[in-house]
Amino acid sequence: MRIITAKTKLRNYPIYISSKISQYFPLLIKENFKDSEKIVLVTNNKVFGIYEDKINNILKECSLPYEIVIIQDGEEYKNLKSADYIYRKLIDFNIHRNDIIIAFGGGVIGDLAGFAASTFHRGIKLIHCPTTIIGQVDSSIGGKVVVNYNNIKNVIGSFYQPHMIAIDPTLNYTLDENQIINGLGEIVKYGLVFKKKILEQLSENVEDKKKDRLLELIKTEVFKDIIYDCCYIKTRVVAKDEFDLDYRNILNFGHTIGHCIESAFNLSEINHGMAISIGMIIEIDISISLGLVSEDIKSVVLELYKKLKLPYRIPKIDVEKITGALKYDKKFKTAQNKFVLLKGINKPVFYYNIEKSVIVDNIKKSMYNYL
Ligand code: NAD
Ligand code: GLY
Repeated sequence: MRIITAKTKLRNYPIYISSKISQYFPLLIKENFKDSEKIVLVTNNKVFGIYEDKINNILKECSLPYEIVIIQDGEEYKNLKSADYIYRKLIDFNIHRNDIIIAFGGGVIGDLAGFAASTFHRGIKLIHCPTTIIGQVDSSIGGKVVVNYNNIKNVIGSFYQPHMIAIDPTLNYTLDENQIINGLGEIVKYGLVFKKKILEQLSENVEDKKKDRLLELIKTEVFKDIIYDCCYIKTRVVAKDEFDLDYRNILNFGHTIGHCIESAFNLSEINHGMAISIGMIIEIDISISLGLVSEDIKSVVLELYKKLKLPYRIPKIDVEKITGALKYDKKFKTAQNKFVLLKGINKPVFYYNIEKSVIVDNIKKSMYNYL
């Protein structure tokens, strides 16, 4: 088992990564949560459908009374209504501050259950068991807990660091291909911004043109190393700027435009990782337009995208639907926009007050049928 310690002002916590985590889990609970008396596991109907036996077996082995709360699957359920549903279950089960919420699912369940854990009794114990690649390399780490509101993404939330993260890379094997692509988008971001070796490992371990190549890729040992590296990078970024006041914004490469694409397509038609994959291409195009980097970088990135089946274009849509969402970006001020751009691979740079025309032109360039 590999262990990373995440260091934050609120608390330090362990991230355990192992394909055998379900065997160790009851022991980890006994060791790290001596004071806890009950467990509430939050998941969704899809994940529960696949892992019901596993979930029950693990929870039984923990030898604490437990309840399972099932939320409907989907980004549209990452909202206050679902949080309210969890609160009612926590009250029914008479949960106290020493008790545990386990978020067992992807980023949606992690953000939602984390939000409920952070607010119930002003904070109860939180364990993330991420079951998607995005959850494992990104959303479970760093304490952002949040819900969407009124079709505005991630707008009501806070920072609440988990008490433990348990990552089993083999849970990803039941993801469908779109969800693998979703996670690979986020991993490519780590490669582009922080560690070029990740891009090389992806490229070298994905068989060209083979139909099931992505599933095969995520089953390799190298991919487990990649998950570890991404977790390590994220903990280091968060440790430098836990509350996302400046440096942590660096993780937002591809997300400035990516989040707007998600909003423009109603938070459901294009998944997060796919939206940020397209967002990264548009932000590379903006970097090129501003003379920060040469065109060559784009062809290298697109070659990898092709192998990994990552999307780089958006369906045709009124560009204002995308740019209109920019004003909600948390990095922005009323009179100042802020982007993470690239001066090269692993050379990220913050860039302020980009002309709207530069943004619009490059978004349009990424649309299908754009002439
Ligand atoms: P998700 O949680 O919706 O999961 C994607 C799909 O995969 C869902 O249908 C889910 O039911 C299914 N699924 C989950 N685990 C599975 C498994 N093991 N096998 C089969 N299917 C499985 O989405 P996601 O991509 O994991 O996360 C995206 C969400 O995370 C967004 O809401 C995004 O805003 C958020 N996010 C948060 C942070 C953060 O720092 N808090 C970072 C990145 C993303
Ligand atoms: N996912 C971006 C962050 O955690 O800051």
